[in-house]
Amino acid sequence: MEIFQEHRTLFVKAPAKLNLYLEVLGLRDDGYHELETIMQTVSLYDELALELTSSGIRLVTSSPDVPNDHTNLVVRAAELLSQHAHRQLGATLRLEKRIPVGAGMGGGSSDAAAALVGLNRLWDLDLNRETLHELAARLGSDVPFFLYGGTALCRGRGDRIAQISGVKPLTYVVVWPRLNVSTKEVYEKLPPDLTKDLRQTKLLLREITKAGSGVFPHFFNRLESVTVKLHASLTLLARRMTESGLAGVTMTGSGSAFFGVSGSRKEAEESLAKLSALGVGDIFVVESTY
Ligand code: C5P
Repeated sequence: MEIFQEHRTLFVKAPAKLNLYLEVLGLRDDGYHELETIMQTVSLYDELALELTSSGIRLVTSSPDVPNDHTNLVVRAAELLSQHAHRQLGATLRLEKRIPVGAGMGGGSSDAAAALVGLNRLWDLDLNRETLHELAARLGSDVPFFLYGGTALCRGRGDRIAQISGVKPLTYVVVWPRLNVSTKEVYEKLPPDLTKDLRQTKLLLREITKAGSGVFPHFFNRLESVTVKLHASLTLLARRMTESGLAGVTMTGSGSAFFGVSGSRKEAEESLAKLSALGVGDIFVVESTY
């Protein structure tokens, strides 16, 4: 995670992610689903600013829609770290939100990972990545991935990370149709008789390290059909994104954001202009931060 200091304030950039591939392998005994997913961080960031105080954890958020209490994973991350250190530690955290909430872009998870990384430095805890990984997994399934970033094949609940190197850069257009989707609800509505096809992961992993158009046909998200059933308007959104010139249009996470690939920044701006005119939602042009 990108971290820098200015006077007495630490800044951590918390990137969004896209799931280029997500297959559900089955229901686990702990109630979670076993996954195989390829996640990639992209150039859309929240920013967390941290300052040392004598006691207490205070979160200030940039939007009234983002809670600043215990329901925010940033506060839970700070409390977990303080407990782990067996010390009463103080900090004020300011969260500048840019990643849409309930979009499947991992904003809350990335903010939590940024809090762990930032407070580990601010509080001089010197915890290694394995310990931070273990704490991150307690906060949420996607949190550990953000400690690594880039592109990774994630298994288990999403918390077993294998980083992928040599990934070629991609430019995406992401549309958030301003619908907040509950991840829990989407998983609960998954049909029990899943057909699993893991051949696609291998093909995608092979193509992702080559420049070219071979990668998009292998984008896939098992949760997409469930979320589309809950919000029928998403079918039209995906069609409009394809018509605007985007390739491999797919949902990220449990939704509701969809993304597609552009051949260049210029083509991405053209797709953005077409989609803006249709008023489909909030639109972002982002690059992979592989
Ligand atoms: O781990 P996290 O709190 O982000 O998960 C939110 C919800 O999504 C869980 O309560 C669970 O219902 C569902 N989930 C799941 N399997 C996963 C990840 C999440 O069933 N691998």
